[in-house]
Amino acid sequence: MHKVLVLHGPNLNMLGTREPEIYGTLTLEQINHRLIQLGSELGVEVDTFQSNHEGVLIDRIQQAMDVYQGILINPGAFTHYSIAIRDAVASVHLPVIEVHLSNVHAREEFRHHSVIAPVALGQIAGLGAFGYECALRAFATRFAEDKS
Ligand code: DQA
Repeated sequence: MHKVLVLHGPNLNMLGTREPEIYGTLTLEQINHRLIQLGSELGVEVDTFQSNHEGVLIDRIQQAMDVYQGILINPGAFTHYSIAIRDAVASVHLPVIEVHLSNVHAREEFRHHSVIAPVALGQIAGLGAFGYECALRAFATRFAEDKS
């Protein structure tokens, strides 16, 4: 069975109460639960992990090699400046889809730039929690086409 690692970056543990007008009212637990459920419908095993710490996220990305066939990541604010996370993504030879709940391109200018996007397979932004589901479906489709 193909496996996808879902990584959530800083402050995403606060979903549900964190600026709900921007990020919605679903909690991280509810989002994760839905992804695991969708994964079982699609025949994809889903593991989820959240950290507020850059190095911990990097460790997880490195450890994903040889275990997972894809990484779905919302790097939170690290998106905009973490060259270290970008380098980790570039080094693991795994397809990575970057997801943002909000439309980062329609917000403050400092959110318009992603240092991760150039080394990612693709980016989904602005669709709320549905964006994660789209990314998981994209992985399932790739796996079915044997593009692991
Ligand atoms: C975010 C957008 C980032 O700019 C922000 O720092 C976040 C969440 C999003 O999902 O919309 O923490 O990644």
